[in-house]
Amino acid sequence: MIKPSVLLTRRWPKVVEQKLAEDYNVVLNRNDRPLSEADFREAIAKFDAVLPTVTDKIGAEAMNVPKAQTKILANYGVGFSHIDVNAAAKHGIAITNTPDVLSDCTADLAMTLMLMVARRAGDGEREVRAGAWSGWRPTHLIGTKVSGKTLGIVGFGRIGQQMARRAHHGFGMEIVVFNRSKVDPKILAQFNARQVDTIEDLLPQSDFVSLHCPGGAENRHMINSARLDLMKLDAFLINTARGEVVNEHALAQSLMFDTIGGAALDVFDAEPRINPMLAQCDNLVMLPHLGSATKEAREAMGFRVVDNLNDFFKGSAPRDRVA
Ligand code: DGY
Repeated sequence: MIKPSVLLTRRWPKVVEQKLAEDYNVVLNRNDRPLSEADFREAIAKFDAVLPTVTDKIGAEAMNVPKAQTKILANYGVGFSHIDVNAAAKHGIAITNTPDVLSDCTADLAMTLMLMVARRAGDGEREVRAGAWSGWRPTHLIGTKVSGKTLGIVGFGRIGQQMARRAHHGFGMEIVVFNRSKVDPKILAQFNARQVDTIEDLLPQSDFVSLHCPGGAENRHMINSARLDLMKLDAFLINTARGEVVNEHALAQSLMFDTIGGAALDVFDAEPRINPMLAQCDNLVMLPHLGSATKEAREAMGFRVVDNLNDFFKGSAPRDRVA
């Protein structure tokens, strides 16, 4: 039997690349260079499956090829706002993602960012490395206590819930939730959390606001200047979701004029390019999209793609089909 042809758009953990090569005719991206729209058009005309990830913008043009060979875009990652879902449907291309397996690690990273920005860990690290530390003193790099504060969580899916677990059970934080649909009261009860009806309700009562909603057109610039103005003057914004959810110009202005206490970002609107206004803000911690970047999560994400592909090519429904 001829093995389906599969293109990996980036380097993946070695064990997963090896596993894929056993069952499929795999083409690897050995240089790990991001593909262009023209590369995608060529790939979609040629491969049975394309395995993209967050760095791959696959819009309508990329899929608009005279004879698409690709039947499935098996995405490596939980977010898939980089893929035009309507265009995929039009061409009969299925889309799968990799939920669950990165929830712990992404929530861990959101906690890392929250602690870093509150406790000025970025400032401290830079000072030590620059040889500029003059020694302990009572007024040095004073931050904000995290334990016992109120955390507002926007988007209460798997990752938002893991964030709540850590913050409530580990740090005694009070949890307030905004989520588009009603959250099961039994789930809220696990974290003694309260659901509010609007983001406008959540922002003024939160000492920390952590974003865990999907990206995409619907949530683009959900955090804008009007909403930033609703945050407490000493509150912090954490984003491990998608860069487009935050209007970075508005955020930079809030940080520059100290209308919020600070922010910590793992994701950016035009990543890897950083808005130059953000780069000027001191009360900001920035990481290079590390949410799921652990050996455990990245391998598990890869094996989840393998499961989705195996199901698809066996003719059964992949469990992570999202479109
Ligand atoms: C995802 O899975 O969507 C992440 O952003 C990449 O880890």
